[in-house]
Amino acid sequence: MAEERLVSSQSDTEEDAIERSLRPHHLSEYIGQTAVKAQLSVYIQAAQKREEALDHVLLYGPPGLGKTTLALVIANELGVNSRTTSGPAIEKPGDLVALLNELQPGDVLFIDEIHRLPKIVEEMLYSAMEDFYIDIVVGQGPTAHPVHFPLPPFTLIGATTRAGMLSAPLRDRFGITQHMAYYQPSELQEIVLRSADIFNMALPADSALEIARRSRGTPRIANRLLKRIRDFADVAESPVSVSLVDHALTQLQVDDHGLDAIDRKLLMMMIRDYAGGPVGLSTIAANIGEETATIEEMYEPYLLQLGFLKRTPRGRMVTPAGFAHLEMPYPIQ
Ligand SMILES: Nc1ncnc2c1ncn2[C@@H]1O[C@H](COP(=O)(O)OP(=O)(O)O)[C@@H](O)[C@H]1O
Ligand SMILES: [Mg+2]
Repeated sequence: MAEERLVSSQSDTEEDAIERSLRPHHLSEYIGQTAVKAQLSVYIQAAQKREEALDHVLLYGPPGLGKTTLALVIANELGVNSRTTSGPAIEKPGDLVALLNELQPGDVLFIDEIHRLPKIVEEMLYSAMEDFYIDIVVGQGPTAHPVHFPLPPFTLIGATTRAGMLSAPLRDRFGITQHMAYYQPSELQEIVLRSADIFNMALPADSALEIARRSRGTPRIANRLLKRIRDFADVAESPVSVSLVDHALTQLQVDDHGLDAIDRKLLMMMIRDYAGGPVGLSTIAANIGEETATIEEMYEPYLLQLGFLKRTPRGRMVTPAGFAHLEMPYPIQ
């Protein structure tokens, strides 16, 4: 990525330890995603009653919305062990065999970024998911022979930011598919209040709501802004009032809708150079120096959600609300 981004919904390794400490372990502590939780809770209880492995679960949605957290919560609620890996980490069939070989009946195998599995590994997963076996070739040259390798029944949980990039055969093998939606401010408020509690930080409800409103519907960003605000409060030796939150976020260039400098640059470029559009995705990418995939996964979804941007067959367009947010006059057509 071109620039380190405070409101990026991607996490880095340094942050991982803190993220882990903030992760809920039970469905009851998992805030929001009410419909997803209600359905999963039924499927989990049914699987437990029948003493069967839970059906395979696909979780998809933008980064930072709690997919990894939910996968671990599911394993915990099922009372089984889980193994975590990611699509790009499974480079060859042998890597997958090693993972599958360690599973006990009912265990969860969590594959993050499942859209990035190598094709040859993905194809091996088909029989593993459907009928709990894999066929592997042992030996080389004339001594090579196929071996039928039965597996215990297990649950694959896949997470992806891009459900559209999953092949149909893989997608069809998930019995349960859940879409993760952006969180409401009241839900994010609850999440930051819970995190503040874990940090031992006094956070008034109205300040929590202000952070929530400016976190682009994303728990990871809400928690990250909370940490930065704590720094501001500690240095100022001041309570975390709404005005302190506003001051800190303004310093951090996070505006009152949670947009950062790059979001505003994107919209402003479209307004100034293209009269608001339509502008093709690759043109936008070239103009702001980002990959098209980054724009599609990280910038655009929230701008679409806010109604500042819309997709048309001829490209992206800034909406009247987008113009208004940047205080630019909407061109008369
Ligand atoms: N529903 C939730 N309730 C409480 N905290 C959450 C929730 N969803 C996500 N979080 C927090 O947000 C952070 C990012 O979540 P994560 O599961 O890593 O997102 P994803 O895998 O979708 O990128 C974690 O630290 C987690 O504690
Ligand atoms: Mg994740």
